[in-house]
Amino acid sequence: MKNQICNYLTTLLPETTPEQFLSLLETPPEASMGDFALPCFSFAKVLRKNPKLIAEELAAGLTEQADKLGIEKVEAVNGYCNIFLDRAAYVKQCLATANGENHGVQQPGSGKTVCMDYSSPNIAKNFHVGHLRTTVIGNSLYKIYEKLGYNVVRINHLGDWGTQFGKLIVAYKKWSSKEEIEEKGIEELMRIYVKFNQEKEGDASMMEEARNWFVKMEQNDEEALAIWNWFKDISLVEFERVYKLLGISFDSYIGESFYREKVPALVEELKEKNLLTESQGANVIDLSAYDMPPCLITKSDGGSIYHSRDIAAVLYRKQTYGFEKCLYVTGLEQSLHFKQVFTAVKLMGNDWAEDALVHVPYGLVSMAGAKLSSRTGNIVYAEDILKEAMERAMTAIQAKNPDLQNKEETAKQVGVGAVIFHDLFNQRIKNVEFNWEDVLSFEGATGPYVQYTYARAKSILRKAGFKKNTGNKADASDTTGTYDINYKHLTDETSYALVKTLSGYEAAVQGAAECYEPSVVARYIISVASAFNKFYHECPILNASEEEKQARLALVDAVQKVLKDACGLLGMECPEKM
Ligand code: ARG
Repeated sequence: MKNQICNYLTTLLPETTPEQFLSLLETPPEASMGDFALPCFSFAKVLRKNPKLIAEELAAGLTEQADKLGIEKVEAVNGYCNIFLDRAAYVKQCLATANGENHGVQQPGSGKTVCMDYSSPNIAKNFHVGHLRTTVIGNSLYKIYEKLGYNVVRINHLGDWGTQFGKLIVAYKKWSSKEEIEEKGIEELMRIYVKFNQEKEGDASMMEEARNWFVKMEQNDEEALAIWNWFKDISLVEFERVYKLLGISFDSYIGESFYREKVPALVEELKEKNLLTESQGANVIDLSAYDMPPCLITKSDGGSIYHSRDIAAVLYRKQTYGFEKCLYVTGLEQSLHFKQVFTAVKLMGNDWAEDALVHVPYGLVSMAGAKLSSRTGNIVYAEDILKEAMERAMTAIQAKNPDLQNKEETAKQVGVGAVIFHDLFNQRIKNVEFNWEDVLSFEGATGPYVQYTYARAKSILRKAGFKKNTGNKADASDTTGTYDINYKHLTDETSYALVKTLSGYEAAVQGAAECYEPSVVARYIISVASAFNKFYHECPILNASEEEKQARLALVDAVQKVLKDACGLLGMECPEKM
């Protein structure tokens, strides 16, 4: 309807475009000021006319075509054109859109590829709460971009190369065994790694030995690589457990080790392009012109490092996937790293780097006030958090609804969903304070609140015996879900406010993608849930007259569909009953 109105407006004012009107149209702060308001001030200069007069003329023009445009009335007030839609017509359209293909979200991304580098934990190190953040944010961005039609390549850039593996091999040989590592996994690898770092102080030969093992790895020594591979397998089993709980998978697990072999060619290319300088035996790219410290490419022993492996990865991904964008979801503390990497890629003559490479940083997680189980000292494992969330959800279910079927599955959906929602609700750059009471509360902006709202909508539909697409008088061939209902029953302030909130889905998804910000979707979900709960309390459904009931049920049905779909974009499931 907005488009139609804007198209028509161009016939009223010469040399204007529909886009111009679309960007000018505002949503007034109060419903009494209409559904849209068009400020006419920007036309005053060009037309050499008083904006008040312009507004009056446009209002008159719109009024002439009101019926066709689905407009109820137009008021010209102080240079604004306040447009009141024909509510019933608007509601009908909104519900058709919500029930329609992709719930009304257009797919401008089709045919375009986006690479997303997220999660990317380090082998032999615990999958901690920080990695939980990148995993959850990255997964949500993947779903959001996919919703918009993009082809998304999900990349887990494993931290699987570096001198620490030399240390680990020494530590393993000295203080551990195959059995112990098989049994305890990463916990044991962490234990011996910490021990190595403590003991190396008193024994200089240990560092020498570790260096030698890493050199062997770099030279593809069979034994060294076999042990390293085994550590990798052990770690992946644990990472997979977390991914399974979260319902997450990846398209590529190509990590840092893959790119070490690409660094010699990179060095050659950098030399050819005169970008390399020597500094104390190491090769670096001087970035002083960009106010940055030099970007290290190879260490003095010629080995690759985190930076150069990342530069090689950008080039490989561009060639392999032809991405339009490549996003990196990591903590804020890696900002400089990515600035250096992106600048280096651009200096190599890749102008696309400027727009295509995006660091998507996020804030820290603090555990203040929360008692979290942890295995080693202060380190909190992501898996422990998810498990504790599930246990706590189970306790709540036992207390509130002990007869519920699928208790285990529901506890998982609620517990995991609560952690995800809590992570995604605030802007990602903000620090997250973890506090079980907040995470699992049924009130306020929480996962359980949203899931409960969804379950409530489903329960209403069940009680009413409501069937999709075949609402009472509906024609069974009508698959759009626009039932044969009287939309007038959804034009009261509360129902209408809910419809309008619901219709913001596409804008929320687009907004979230534009700023790489899942919180935009999370906030949309909360606004729908709150508008729905208000509607539920103010508009009787099951006890209403038959015609009203059918209209309200149709709205409940559209709400539950969009809620579930939007929760899916966060990576959160919605149980049918709670
Ligand atoms: N492994 C790194 C870490 O745990 C994150 C890697 C991010 N991705 C990248 N291409 N650098 O901090």
